[in-house]
Amino acid sequence: MTGIETQLHAIVAQALEQTVNGLVIADMRADGQPIVHVNAGFERITGYRAGEVIGRNCRFLQGFDNQQPGVVRMREAVARGEPCTAVVRNYRKDGSLFWNRVEIGPVHDAASGELTHYFALQTDVTAEQEALALRERFLNNAAHELRSPLGTIRGFVELMQMRCPRDDPNQDLLATVHRQADRVVDLVDDMLVLAELETTTEPSPGVQPVQLTAVLGRLHDLLPPDDGLHRVVIEPVRPDLWVQAHAQRLEQVLVNLLSNAMKYSPEGGEIRWSVRPGRENGWVCLSVSDPGVGMTADEQSRLFTRFFRARTDIPGTGLGLVIVRELMERMGGHITVSSQPGVGTTFTLHLRTVSPWTF
Ligand SMILES: Cc1cc2nc3c(=O)[nH]c(=O)nc-3n(C[C@H](O)[C@H](O)[C@H](O)COP(=O)(O)O)c2cc1C
Repeated sequence: MTGIETQLHAIVAQALEQTVNGLVIADMRADGQPIVHVNAGFERITGYRAGEVIGRNCRFLQGFDNQQPGVVRMREAVARGEPCTAVVRNYRKDGSLFWNRVEIGPVHDAASGELTHYFALQTDVTAEQEALALRERFLNNAAHELRSPLGTIRGFVELMQMRCPRDDPNQDLLATVHRQADRVVDLVDDMLVLAELETTTEPSPGVQPVQLTAVLGRLHDLLPPDDGLHRVVIEPVRPDLWVQAHAQRLEQVLVNLLSNAMKYSPEGGEIRWSVRPGRENGWVCLSVSDPGVGMTADEQSRLFTRFFRARTDIPGTGLGLVIVRELMERMGGHITVSSQPGVGTTFTLHLRTVSPWTF
């Protein structure tokens, strides 16, 4: 090693010792993968002195709370010799709870390639987690407080609609009040879904192999494929096509896109689902095309912005596509759109296939 390299090594080691984060090094060749080193950051975060933890496995920080999803992920990552980041509940020496974002990574011997150690960087994210929990509680309370009076409004409007003669001019007004109340309920629901997605700290919870034909098949039950005004065509898909997804979330995405296509297409229009290979190996494109009003380039660029609605005369909250994009990204995929005013729109879902797949 040259003099400069030695100096740089010393600086890196010094920086790791002095960082506010906790640093832990565990020996993977010894039984029980014991801690062999911790820095001052670890001592400050956990309240334990180095001498009290050297020789123990880090799991003691979990107490009896050792079945958390983050712990399970770390267990699996260590078994595979892979890196992993998890946010877990841990307990300080005085028994108090703190949220620990642990980033673990394997260290291999430079010459033999053998896995010798694991290192971890720990960050105390208790304040962030408490703020997220507070936000979630507030949103749930607000949603409840908004939903109950809206239910009353809708109930009374329905009563008035029944009591009013059919040809009474007030029927139009009552129908508008009912529609608007429905819209607020939809808004509250969509805002809650978005808030929940944003508070999830897990990267891709529930993502697993999903058979595309099964999900597309269920679409028939979730929304009538022929709502009487449109023809919905699902091109045949090979049953051996499995994608990496979360079945219910993918279903939610498909229902959302289908109901959009129905809302924006003229009566008698054909809505078509099709599957094509992705541009890259290991990806597949699931598209839904409608012969609807279409969108300008400017509208397309704002399509995934909160509360943007291309047409305010068509019911919608302006959050549906934001949720769809968020759901797709959570599943490790993404969504694109192509559209032409007066011709129609195609939304394409890009999903990872489970194994290399050819048509
Ligand atoms: C270097 C390193 C540091 C770790 N730091 C923590 C930690 O700060 N908190 C924690 O709950 N788990 C931590 N773990 C995870 C546990 O040591 C252990 O891998 C996890 O509990 C799953 O394994 P088990 O099922 O054998 O307990 C760390 C793991 C390694 C390899």
